[in-house]
Parts: sequence; C-alpha cells; structure tokens
Amino acid sequence: MADHVRDKESSVADHVMEKETSVAGLMTVDGLALPIRPGDTILAACRRAGVTIPTLCYHPGLEPYGACRLCIVEVTHGGHPDQPAPGRAVASCTTPAQPGIQVSTRSARVLRVRRAVIAFLLDRCPRSETLQQLAEDLGVPPPPGARAGPTATPAAAAPPTPVEPPAGAPALPPVPPELEQACVLCGRCVQACEKLGHFAIGFAGRSVFRRVMPPFGASSETCAACGACAELCPTGAVRLVIESGRPRVEAEGRTPRVAAPTAHLPAWRTTVPLATCRSCGRPLWSGRLTTSAPAGMADLCPACRRKEALALAFGVSR
Ligand code: SF4
Ligand code: FES
Repeated sequence: MADHVRDKESSVADHVMEKETSVAGLMTVDGLALPIRPGDTILAACRRAGVTIPTLCYHPGLEPYGACRLCIVEVTHGGHPDQPAPGRAVASCTTPAQPGIQVSTRSARVLRVRRAVIAFLLDRCPRSETLQQLAEDLGVPPPPGARAGPTATPAAAAPPTPVEPPAGAPALPPVPPELEQACVLCGRCVQACEKLGHFAIGFAGRSVFRRVMPPFGASSETCAACGACAELCPTGAVRLVIESGRPRVEAEGRTPRVAAPTAHLPAWRTTVPLATCRSCGRPLWSGRLTTSAPAGMADLCPACRRKEALALAFGVSR
C-alpha cells in the first residue's frame, strides 16, 4: 500500500478514535476501520456504524443466543497482507469484536452460507412471511407452495407428533398447524419468559421434533399472559388473543352473568382468566402478574388510574 494512502487511513482512524468515547480499538469491516467499544460483539459494532447484517434470533433486549446463524460474517485475524490467514465463518451476534480483526459481511462465502441457512429455515417454515422476505432480500427463490395451500415440504408436511398432557389433565385444543409451522426455534419467547420469571415455556424434543411448549404439553400453570412471547416472536408463531367477557345464557328470570375475559395463547394451549377494571370494566392483566400500582389502584386500568389520581389530587376528573 502506498505511504500516502496508509497515512491518510491512519489519520482517519485517529480521528474516529478521538471522537468515540471509550473506544477499545479498531476492527476493519468490509475495508473500513470501525471503532469497538468494550464488550461489543461484531454485530453491535457494525450496527452502530450503520453496517447492515441480517438477523432473526437476535433481539437487543435479550442475550444473544446464536440459534439461526443468519448473521454469519467472515473473520480473518493475522497473516501477512499478501497472504492473509484463512477466514472463519462466525455468528456476528455472539462473537466478540476484537481490535485488529478483519470482517467481511458480504463476501461470496458469507452470502452462500446465509442463503443456505435461509433455505433450510424456509424448508421448515415455508409459509413464514418473515422468512420469505429475508429469502427475497438474499435472492433465494421461495419453495413450492410457499404462499398458499398446504405446505409442500416433508418437514413441514409432517409436524411433530403432539405431546399429550399428563393423565387426568383436561383435554386441550390442538396447536393450530399454521402456528406450529411458523416457529423457527429462535428461543426469543423462551428467554423472555424466563427473564420475566414465569418459566411457562421451554424447549422440548430433539432434531426435527424439537419445539417450544409448556412443560409436558399441558396448559401452563405459570403463564401470566404478559404477552412478551407474542411481542418478541419474529415469525408470528405466538398469538395473544384477548376475549372480552360475554354475557352467559341464563335461565329465564335470572340476571345474565358476564363471563370473565380471558387471554388465550393457542401456541401454548393456554388460557388465562383476566381481571377487569373496576371502573370501566375493560379487561386487565391476569392475577398472576404483579403490578407496581399504588395501593388501592391495582384493579384499575392505566386510564382510570390516571383519572382517579387527578380526582384525588385536584378534585377534578378528565
Ligand atoms: S415461537 Fe416464535 S419466538 Fe418462540 S422459538 Fe418459535 S419463532 Fe422463536
Ligand atoms: S441473529 Fe445471530 S445467530 Fe441468529
């Protein structure tokens, strides 16, 4: 490399180092010097600098799990400029960024691996719109029957045998196949549930029979219907359906009673009764969720709680 080019590059690097606070060093990404902060993964440093790397199982609020391998990059360390060391394909979401490494986010090898990964995932979940979009971005053709009709691939056409709940437990509705066949086993829902302290779901089974479900396939007794799993699922395999209380049919002459509202999670075959706001009657959270509401306001929805607080403080309600 010519001296004037090297000088210019090192002055750019010095400038970057000065501007970034707590910079731990520099790595090279697709030929550009990027600053690294202590504790950075390759993905974190790249995202901060605006370098795009596709991800599926990664979520900034969770621990990197490295399940999907879509964020693969090629890393080279050491070697002579004329004879660089062979690159390693690593998951950028779990690999620490280190000063001096050279990262390629779009080499032919990286693109080949990403295409293979997305093709495998599509084989498992051919009708997932998230996967179809990722496949389109990577130039992978959709599998036959991807958009409509029954799934056409052997893995998806033969979902794992249902796990029956323990003897004596009430019969449960089956998991809708479109939900079961949308799960890419990324583990986001499991980790979120554990972080919130509910431990309502986990992985079970191996290889093609691996799946996420409550213990023993029974309706979960610890699910609080917080909705974190549905919120974080990247493929829509988890749905939280809130059903408002409906009047129950009563014998003639008796006052109709209203059934309690429920939160239903078909993917976990779990239904959780919800409390209602004592002021407006809207469905509230389940009794298994703790709330930090002030004393006397735990059975009010946020809107009614605000009204009550205003009324208490100023004698007005808005
Ligand atoms: S249900 Fe959704 S969040 Fe949970 S493992 Fe499957 S794809 Fe991931
Ligand atoms: S996003 Fe890195 S392995 Fe899934």
